[in-house]
Amino acid sequence: MTILVTGGAGFIGSNFILDWFEQGPEPVLNIDKLTYAGNLQNLATVSARKQYFFFRIGIEETSKIRRLLGAHNVRAIINFAAESHVDRSIAGPEAFFQTNVIGTLKLLEAAREYWTSGEAPKDFRFLQVSTDEVYGSLQPDEPGFRESDAFEPNSPYAASKAGSDHIVRAYGETYGLPVLITHCSNNYGPFQFPEKLIPLVILNALGGKSLPLYGDGQQVRDWLYVSDHCDALNRVLSDGQPGETYNIGGNSERTNLTVVHTICAILDGLRPLASGKSYAEQIAFVRDRPGHDRRYAIDASKLARTLQWSPRTSFEGGIRRTVEWYLANPAWTTSVTSGEYREWVARQYA
Ligand code: NAD
Ligand code: DAU
Repeated sequence: MTILVTGGAGFIGSNFILDWFEQGPEPVLNIDKLTYAGNLQNLATVSARKQYFFFRIGIEETSKIRRLLGAHNVRAIINFAAESHVDRSIAGPEAFFQTNVIGTLKLLEAAREYWTSGEAPKDFRFLQVSTDEVYGSLQPDEPGFRESDAFEPNSPYAASKAGSDHIVRAYGETYGLPVLITHCSNNYGPFQFPEKLIPLVILNALGGKSLPLYGDGQQVRDWLYVSDHCDALNRVLSDGQPGETYNIGGNSERTNLTVVHTICAILDGLRPLASGKSYAEQIAFVRDRPGHDRRYAIDASKLARTLQWSPRTSFEGGIRRTVEWYLANPAWTTSVTSGEYREWVARQYA
């Protein structure tokens, strides 16, 4: 049997594939369009395995994917492929609806044909990897998001993910496709593209650039180390109930200001500045993100209760490991911070 991963050249997808091969030899088909966020170097350590197959295909290419499903006897699809950066969705929303909504619909069509043809194995699953952002924003004293909470997306990115989740659900209800949906909080760790807060701050600090904090820096995110997310997805894939939704969180709420100070303190220890100053002096408060969600937090008790999952990595341990990884992999960062990246940064932080 084989699993099919979409968006496997991105941050979480590549971590998922690397972790997958740590656990066993079951083959993986990786389907990725290789947008600016996809990077095959992330998978260099597994790319020569005979159980690993890569296809440069978009999730919207229904017929090609349908053929692959049958030819490889695929037992599960894990859909990571997406446009994933909120700020880019504000600058240009259309690509988000093309990939996240229409793309997911077309991928579901391939899965539906495969499932209804009788070719798919009986325990076939379609796992949709979604986000906590579909639930909107929390007040400081509100409990974390639960699976039963209403969707209240505030950014074009969140709206596009909410749209795709609704379609996945509808395919489960209408066509009996065995679907699972997860909503996860903010991930961090190796191979994260440096448009996101944590890698951006690490690289800007090392480059002597300012560390941009939107608004007052008091927005709260619930941080989860990426391997813990992958572990939760594996648990949902193997033991989750079709038709169910599972929230995944790190139980590690931090303000953005705290996150940035933590990174600076680690860098002060590992790579002290010749001037003797702290990297924290590079912090700059900049114009806020429009519609910026104030706080996310996840109530992951359903996953703990039903599938015995809880995060293993503390924020302090995970963030240190992450900083060490970026320090140890300058070639990776040089290769991803290409012309396109520099143009994005110039536009976004002008
Ligand atoms: P990413 O931007 O790093 O990677 C996305 C990948 O999808 C890239 O490899 C890209 O090339 C590929 N892709 C884009 N459009 C495609 C298309 N049409 N067809 C095929 N491939 C395409 O994203 P990420 O941070 O790894 O997130 C992966 C998934 O997890 C997304 O669905 C995201 O919404 C979700 N998620 C992310 C986080 C987070 O903190 N990063 C948290 C919760 C959920
Ligand atoms: O919550 C899950 C989501 O987490 C995922 O669904 C998204 O794909 C992922 O990008 C992430 O979204 P965020 O918008 O929370 O992540 P980002 O790293 O862009 O920003 C984290 C916080 O830091 C957010 O409050 C905005 C703030 N920020 C971000 C950047 C890039 C800054 O203050 N300055 C910055 O330069």
